[in-house]
Amino acid sequence: MNIKINKNFLNVSENYLFSDINKRIKEYKEKNPNADIIRLGIGDVTLPLGKSVIEALIKASNEMGNKDTFRGYPPEYGYDFVKEAVKKYYLKNNINLDLDSIFISDGAKSDLGNIVDILGDNKIYIPNPVYPVYLDSNIMSGRIINFINGTQENNFLPMPNKDISNDSVIYLCSPNNPTGATYNYKELKKWVDFALKTNSLIIYDSAYEAFINDKDKPHSIYEIEGAKECAIEICSFSKQAGFTGLRCGFTIIPLELESEGVKLNKLWKRRQATKFNGVSYPVQRAAEAALSDKGIKECMDNINYYMENARMLSEFFDEKGIFYTGGKSSPYIWFKCPNGMNSWDFFDYLLQNANVVGTPGAGFGTFGEGYFRITSFNTHEKTKEAINRLRKLL
Ligand code: MLT
Repeated sequence: MNIKINKNFLNVSENYLFSDINKRIKEYKEKNPNADIIRLGIGDVTLPLGKSVIEALIKASNEMGNKDTFRGYPPEYGYDFVKEAVKKYYLKNNINLDLDSIFISDGAKSDLGNIVDILGDNKIYIPNPVYPVYLDSNIMSGRIINFINGTQENNFLPMPNKDISNDSVIYLCSPNNPTGATYNYKELKKWVDFALKTNSLIIYDSAYEAFINDKDKPHSIYEIEGAKECAIEICSFSKQAGFTGLRCGFTIIPLELESEGVKLNKLWKRRQATKFNGVSYPVQRAAEAALSDKGIKECMDNINYYMENARMLSEFFDEKGIFYTGGKSSPYIWFKCPNGMNSWDFFDYLLQNANVVGTPGAGFGTFGEGYFRITSFNTHEKTKEAINRLRKLL
């Protein structure tokens, strides 16, 4: 064959972070088949879906098996019933969304990766460390990337600074994956004001908003005045409602967002209509149910269960006096590796000596080197056992 390939793909790391981790666990398991491994690595939920979600799935599946209620292609941007449910969810925080600004998707990851399609060759600013999808998707489309660095000094909450150019695209993730660090109202307002002043766009990943349990911290960027003129928000049912296996999320592109005389909302509509055929009807009914009052309560029961694990883990790190962020409004705990170890060495050390799997900070960016992420998505029992094992090593 003699075709041209997209050489930008050669500039991303060979494997996606979690594929790399799975490979290492598999190799370790092959050599140590009896190892009792506790997984606190990938942020995948473990508790079953809520009752309301399951009932909605069954009901919608039955409708699909009846000729009077069968449905074919879903609307590319989502059924109005889910969009109405999202609108109602945002109204709880006094945010009034146009139905037309809401796009239902198969998860935040796809939209975060695909959003580059509607953007030109802008200056890109990405937090470091952060969820790898922003960086990889921009490298794949040949963009030159700048970083806004999270450090122990700024508690992994980078703020606007004079080195960020005008007319930029800035990614923010709050509560942050992997650090769990979460902007408060004052800090997020600084970002919104900065974006407005510099004619920049913020792409705001709020996938972990449901874990926020602090009144000082916004659940959505649109709680900040002016954000509809400068921000796209991308959210997910994965962590809020346990949909990692069902797949559903949503993206909000306010009608106010306009550049070079064109509405970004219009571009995304066109992009989705061409490249996306919508989310299946039963899954959209399940998402609607997750946002009903009963559904939200069931989801919060699961989140509170995970947050008890986060509390136990935080208590352990407090007791040890080890620096960490997260664990409060986030399912992630991000801590400093002991004895100046680098994060992949610590990954191997923990796997081999405690049979505990976490995620090396370096996988989230150069400023993650020397740090490590563990999740609270396992059971209470396994989390306690992991803490006992960690206690012997740290
Ligand atoms: C993570 O562990 O960082 C997440 O599960 C990744 C994701 O949400 O795609």
